[in-house]
Amino acid sequence: MSLKITVAGSTDRELEGVVRSCGAAPSLVPLAQLPAMAQATTRQADVLIVDLRGQSSVPPALGAFRRQHPTTGILIVSKTLDPDLILSAMRAGANEWLAEPVTHAELDAAITRIVAHQASPAVSQTFAFVGVKGGVGATALAVNIATALSRVATSGALMIDLQMSRGDAALYLGVEPRFSVADALDNIHKLDEAFFRSLVVRGASRLDLLAAPEANGAARLDPARVKALLEFTSRQFEYVVVDVPRSEPGALDALDAAKSIVVVTTQEVSAVRSAASMAARLRQRYSKDRVLVVMTRLDKESEISREDVEQVLGSPLAFTFPSDYRTTMAALNKGRPLVLTNHTNLAASFERFARMVAGLQSEKAAAPEGGWLARMTGRSKTRKRADQEETQ
Ligand SMILES: Nc1ncnc2c1ncn2[C@@H]1O[C@H](COP(=O)(O)OP(=O)(O)OP(=O)(O)O)[C@@H](O)[C@H]1O
Ligand SMILES: [Mg+2]
Repeated sequence: MSLKITVAGSTDRELEGVVRSCGAAPSLVPLAQLPAMAQATTRQADVLIVDLRGQSSVPPALGAFRRQHPTTGILIVSKTLDPDLILSAMRAGANEWLAEPVTHAELDAAITRIVAHQASPAVSQTFAFVGVKGGVGATALAVNIATALSRVATSGALMIDLQMSRGDAALYLGVEPRFSVADALDNIHKLDEAFFRSLVVRGASRLDLLAAPEANGAARLDPARVKALLEFTSRQFEYVVVDVPRSEPGALDALDAAKSIVVVTTQEVSAVRSAASMAARLRQRYSKDRVLVVMTRLDKESEISREDVEQVLGSPLAFTFPSDYRTTMAALNKGRPLVLTNHTNLAASFERFARMVAGLQSEKAAAPEGGWLARMTGRSKTRKRADQEETQ
């Protein structure tokens, strides 16, 4: 698969020649096309080279382009290394900077750095969510955690809906997928980045979804293929969140790539019993500390106390989420995850849990756009310890 490079705003055949000497056939576009590219929902080039030699400022569309296409590397070419221009390009999301004259060696090295960064996210984390019975809120939780993580990811976040017979993630995210997990699993040996990108659909935040197939009820999952899929996605995305069907061994046995497997229960006796046996089974199959049990729709007035639940489980609950049926229904009806629109306790607890499982410091989650700049300039404020608290 050859690297796709777009050069924006260059009238200079020399720059095009240097790009060609690096082995790529660039597409040339005028700078005026940048706003349209920033709007485009189709995947853009692997690297966008923006020629700012004739410009005194960074085009405003560059930031919008970065937000819409987080995996495209952005390389700026300028007349001089003007610090103000560099800073505003960095703020807009540029990855690399070259001043003229652009040599083959410099351009090649910059593109190599971009590609190396794209090929393997520094750290990839996969989280699996499994509800112990129908309707406990596992999908609502998984979608919100994935959305929260997509807002802090620097190299992409993905949600995989493995519910082969009745996946709801697309509904929660308000998207209409054309392809599904079945296409990825059927073509598992042909999977490469470009093909995979064509299978996913982008939601309102920067979250990509590999959706469940249209309901047919028949498809079984082959654990070897699911395992291969999760290994592949962990090489492509910084965060991967998987909605796992509770009665499908093909999925439950294939979660080796998962950092945490989150068992979702409610306070009902039957659900808590199922949670205890599911957690025990998963802890036997995977290591103990990778299996977390969480409780949704917490009802403080319930006869069954949190202590009762923990006694049946034989382990503490990792987190509890308040009950808020009206807001979760409204979010579902709008197709917009709660963490994007709402400041309820439930939305805040989704955010806190996302930070907790991902081991993120609260500051990064609070200021998603500043992470890269802060790392580059070393200007990070006092960091707090990862938020380990849970809602009461
Ligand atoms: N914390 C919550 N408080 C109140 N209602 C909730 C909460 N979380 C989810 N719900 C509601 O519960 C219903 C089921 O949620 P969801 O689809 O997430 O469950 P699920 O466990 O994925 O179910 P399924 O087994 O069908 O996949 C939805 O109507 C949702 O709005
Ligand atoms: Mg579900």
